[in-house]
Amino acid sequence: MSDPILRTEGLTKRFGGLVAVSNVSLEFRVGTVHAVIGPNGAGKSTLTNLLSGDLPPTSGSVNFEGRNIAGLTPEQISQLGIGRSYQKTNIFLPFSVFENCRLAAQSRKQHPWRIFRSAVSYQDINRAANHAIEQAGLTSVRDQVASALSHGQQRQLEIAMCLATGPKLLLLDEPLAGMGHHESLMMIELIKKLRVDHAIMLIEHDMDAIFAVADTLTVMVNGEVLDSGDPQVVRSSPIVQQVYLSHE
Ligand SMILES: Nc1ncnc2c1ncn2[C@@H]1O[C@H](COP(=O)(O)OP(=O)(O)O)[C@@H](O)[C@H]1O
Ligand SMILES: [Mg+2]
Repeated sequence: MSDPILRTEGLTKRFGGLVAVSNVSLEFRVGTVHAVIGPNGAGKSTLTNLLSGDLPPTSGSVNFEGRNIAGLTPEQISQLGIGRSYQKTNIFLPFSVFENCRLAAQSRKQHPWRIFRSAVSYQDINRAANHAIEQAGLTSVRDQVASALSHGQQRQLEIAMCLATGPKLLLLDEPLAGMGHHESLMMIELIKKLRVDHAIMLIEHDMDAIFAVADTLTVMVNGEVLDSGDPQVVRSSPIVQQVYLSHE
């Protein structure tokens, strides 16, 4: 197995008296899907926010490719190669699929306005946008406005926007939320395809989806890691059965 591209150690986030993420130590590797499950309020989205820089940790470290990125801004973390999709959509509805992806690709550049001065980087951005659209399976709707897409296609567009930033690690917070059966299957196929050359953190409620794609499964409850490891082993662990899965 490859070395972890990202490793958290003792990662903790407090909101006043509430410990939303408590002493979490996890690893993410290219070529694998690391699924995180847990009841509402378990701290899954907060963990994502700590990895993406949307929130600074209270304590602990986030080591990405050998450097501690805890406390960097979302822009800095995106530029290093961590991309996230949001649970609430981040799409500009009046813009086309291509324009949305181009804006996302541009956001990766430290000085977006420089594209007006450099034809080369302008081409790079267009190329990144088109590549992301192709990877996400949206080529046939490239020039449609985002508002005309189905719900499932909009979720694919969020992933395309994430891919346009050139991430090595993808943080996917409930990408199947609100999807029908067919759309879910397409998204699972997309995640499998992206796993080949990315590390993926997948937060998801759909257990069928998790067992279809996860290489590692972590169960969080009350901010803490209850268990983590091989999905089948974690699934049958007595503590996980007792505290979480029995209530599903
Ligand atoms: N910005 C915030 N300020 C205060 N409390 C928060 C904030 N974000 C999340 N929380 C709390 O932290 C806990 C974990 O929330 P969250 O990470 O959203 O859980 P999950 O994604 O697993 O449902 C919850 O009790 C939630 O109310
Ligand atoms: Mg959440």
